[in-house]
Amino acid sequence: MENSIEVENLTKVYNGKVKAVDNVNLKIGKGMIYGLLGQNGAGKSTLIKMLTGVIKPTSGTAKIAGYDLNHDSLKIRRITGVVPQDLTTDGDLSGKENLKLVADLYDIPKKDALESIDLLLHMVDLYDVRDRHAETYSGGMRKRLELACGLMNKPDVLFLDEPTLGLDVTTRSNLWKYIRSIQKEFQITIILTSHYLDEVDELANELSIIDHGKILVSGTSPELKKSLKGDIITVHLKNDSEFEKLKSFKDAIDIKKIETGDIRIKVSNSDEVLPELMGFLSKNQISPDSINIRKPSLDEVFIEYTGRNINAEQEKPDYAKLMMGRR
Ligand SMILES: Nc1ncnc2c1ncn2[C@@H]1O[C@H](COP(=O)(O)OP(=O)(O)O)[C@@H](O)[C@H]1O
Ligand SMILES: [Mg+2]
Repeated sequence: MENSIEVENLTKVYNGKVKAVDNVNLKIGKGMIYGLLGQNGAGKSTLIKMLTGVIKPTSGTAKIAGYDLNHDSLKIRRITGVVPQDLTTDGDLSGKENLKLVADLYDIPKKDALESIDLLLHMVDLYDVRDRHAETYSGGMRKRLELACGLMNKPDVLFLDEPTLGLDVTTRSNLWKYIRSIQKEFQITIILTSHYLDEVDELANELSIIDHGKILVSGTSPELKKSLKGDIITVHLKNDSEFEKLKSFKDAIDIKKIETGDIRIKVSNSDEVLPELMGFLSKNQISPDSINIRKPSLDEVFIEYTGRNINAEQEKPDYAKLMMGRR
């Protein structure tokens, strides 16, 4: 498959101190939605800013649609669209005026621009509100306007940095529909960053997990889940003697008791092992209160590679205590 993006040893060190992106290598195939999954501060925005020419890499390079980041930056700007993490549209202007402004930035001839603007407004379902100030839009509408702005120059590659950050669940899944249809209708490559597992799982054809500026693992979501080599069967037993008997079940990779008191059985493939397990339980007169099967989720993939839960509270000083301590 032809690559749309090839990143080579890309590194960004801020102020000679903070290594925000650390020797990243990536190959992204043409026409796919590629997810970059990572917590806050992982280096996602820094990577996007380098790839869109907003900041210069400290070292390394990348090719976007064959153009070299360090030499063809103007050309790259023409063929890429970007929807940055923070809003770029102007609340004091209407939706339509915002799009006109972007068209001017790209020197798009007026007639062509007006036609594109109408098409884009229809596409993101903002045509009826095109003359309203953008500040009166809901969060989801405003993001849709940003999406339209990112498409104004008919890019080959579209970068979406945390496109649904801070939106509620319904609005987020509504935006996913637009992102999916953009990729399909325009047949462009989309690079999407997110710290929402469900978003990356839902949208991305392939993904990388990024942590502390490094790519830890890449692949399709099913591949990554499969790489964990195993499903989890959890059983709730009546007593410890049942647990002792269960320990001799041969088809498990691992059997252990977890904090809740449940027994966690790791198996290679629950579809195959479950019938064996049922037979074993009945033969040994073990009758669990419940049996639960879990296929590996992207959640567990993230924990496996980073050692942390993506939704874990990030360390933050106890501001309330510091505040009250000053009384
Ligand atoms: N302009 C900057 N100057 C110094 N440090 C920065 C700057 N921008 C980001 N950083 C730091 O670089 C790291 C990565 O940040 P960022 O790329 O914004 O991550 P993400 O988008 O994944 O949340 C963080 O430690 C952040 O504090
Ligand atoms: Mg960011």
